[in-house]
Amino acid sequence: MIVRAFFMLTCVVVLSIGTVTPVAAQTVPNQPLIEKAFPHSNKCKRCHERVYEEWETSPLAKSIHSPAFRASLDAYLKSAGGKDQTLCFRCHAPHVREFPDHVQLFIDQAKEGDPSLDGVACSQCHLIKHVDRAKHPPEPQYEIGGKTLYGPYKDFVQNLAHQSMELSLFQKSDLCLNCHQSVPSVANLGKANDLLGNWDQSRAVKSGKECQTCHMPQQVGESSNGEKKRTIANHSFPGRIGKLRQEAAKLNVQTKVDGEKTTVRVKVQSLVPHNLPTTHPAWATVVLNLDIKGKNLKTVFSDKRAYGRTYLDAQGQPTIFDFEAVKVGEDTVLKPEETREETFTFPTPKDTKTFDVEVALNYGPLNGPASFLQRVEAESSQGSQDPVFQPIEIVKRAENIPVGK
Ligand code: HEC
Ligand code: HEC
Ligand code: HEC
Ligand code: HEC
Ligand code: HEC
Repeated sequence: MIVRAFFMLTCVVVLSIGTVTPVAAQTVPNQPLIEKAFPHSNKCKRCHERVYEEWETSPLAKSIHSPAFRASLDAYLKSAGGKDQTLCFRCHAPHVREFPDHVQLFIDQAKEGDPSLDGVACSQCHLIKHVDRAKHPPEPQYEIGGKTLYGPYKDFVQNLAHQSMELSLFQKSDLCLNCHQSVPSVANLGKANDLLGNWDQSRAVKSGKECQTCHMPQQVGESSNGEKKRTIANHSFPGRIGKLRQEAAKLNVQTKVDGEKTTVRVKVQSLVPHNLPTTHPAWATVVLNLDIKGKNLKTVFSDKRAYGRTYLDAQGQPTIFDFEAVKVGEDTVLKPEETREETFTFPTPKDTKTFDVEVALNYGPLNGPASFLQRVEAESSQGSQDPVFQPIEIVKRAENIPVGK
């Protein structure tokens, strides 16, 4: 409250002077103001070193840093619907919600590529007091201007830096849903664009699991430097990176040679209690690749199936940007805990006694129009080697099949 009042005061002064350019006057000096309300993560590092180091390796720590984010932010701001400049930051750097007039600072820093503002960091979660699930997407309520941080402990240890308060919200999916359930730009698609699908009907969730159970696994350790043994939660947010990937799906492969013709049946069993992939950004796909290797391990046949969502814009053209979408084109995402069966048929490899069947489920690399891919490449210090252009393996099966007489 004090912070807000102070901000309004400075605004009034700026406006009444009139000659000062509003952008310069507002953006440059006000980062400290923002960070007074949302203390920077490096302030927490001193005492919460383990948590900090885990979080630092997580995608959350890079939520306004990636070349793909810069390129798509730019495309959004230039698009017809790009009037709400805060939109992308509402989840990628959610302190913008309390400082919408400073959005230019967020934009400038994200565009520069090395923002000193935090994205989704400590205060951005631990100052959330309530999540309103009646809203679509759900909305967080921040408590700023105080000295209290919210967390999971009832019996917290006192410290000199802040007060603590236990909130059950921190052990519930609600905390995550305000960013992970749906994206407001395509809210007009309604239920069709829920990113997670019917996750709350899944076996995992019905048996009491929350997002944190899998994505912030608990163990016993130090909650803060030198403190007693505690139930702590992993802050590296395993997802595309990390071991959790191995628990995503099972593949069952059956190959049948029938003379000239061979059929491979693949059962893809998703073990994930929500959609796989979650479809923001809209280019997210999971791809099932089949490779048949014949004589001298030469690939003689390849095919694939893609799981994801395609969108159409107002002109009915396909778009990879969900903020342009007015309609879902095709929806092939693997639904919560779904088993999908795929059949591939191809000529039986010749001049060989056996052949290899290789089946892999991967997160697909970034795809889209050439202009966008080039833009991402240009934005990346690694160019075409940027990790976003590489597939990420989830699970793989290989077997050697005799051709038979
Ligand atoms: C303030 C918004 C916000 C909240 C709250 C939030 N997330 Fe996220 N999360 C993000 C963003 C943005 C990314 C993508 C970061 C990137 O890759 O640039 C992300 C990425 C992730 C990833 C990595 C996904 C991948 O593809 O590897 C996981 C896992 C994750 N979040 C889990 C959670 C869980 C569990 C919670 C609740 C405890 C949570 N998040 C709360 C915004 C949020
Ligand atoms: C409702 C919250 C929300 C909004 C609004 C939102 N995002 Fe995201 N964004 C996420 C989450 C959560 C992830 C991680 C998803 C995952 O890994 O499955 C993500 C991931 C991404 C990624 C892939 C990770 C990366 O950093 O390269 C890009 C790019 C991205 N968002 C761009 C945007 C752009 C551009 C906008 C504005 C048009 C936007 N997002 C608006 C929540 C949001
Ligand atoms: C995406 C939201 C999110 C972010 C970002 C985040 N936390 Fe947490 N944090 C949580 C949740 C949720 C829990 C409770 C997990 C549980 O008990 O299952 C938690 C638990 C904790 C705890 C108590 C348990 C433990 O592991 O020690 C501390 C301390 C903590 N966080 C500090 C931090 C600090 C410091 C940062 C920044 C480096 C940070 N958190 C970033 C969501 C977040
Ligand atoms: C001077 C050291 C110090 C600093 C700096 C510090 N903390 Fe803490 N924090 C602690 C101690 C000690 C605890 C209590 C740990 C316990 O109860 O086991 C704690 C507990 C927490 C908890 C758990 C609260 C609960 O009730 O569940 C969270 C969340 C947390 N801190 C977040 C942060 C964040 C975010 C920052 C940076 C803005 C930060 N802390 C800075 C020492 C510090
Ligand atoms: C039973 C364990 C489990 C629970 C509960 C769970 N997930 Fe996942 N989640 C997974 C697995 C397994 C994957 C796939 C492997 C991976 O990418 O980590 C995954 C993947 C993800 C991804 C990255 C996939 C993508 O397509 O970008 C995000 C983001 C995510 N989960 C968010 C959430 C959120 C938010 C919740 C709570 C509503 C949640 N998860 C609940 C197990 C779980």
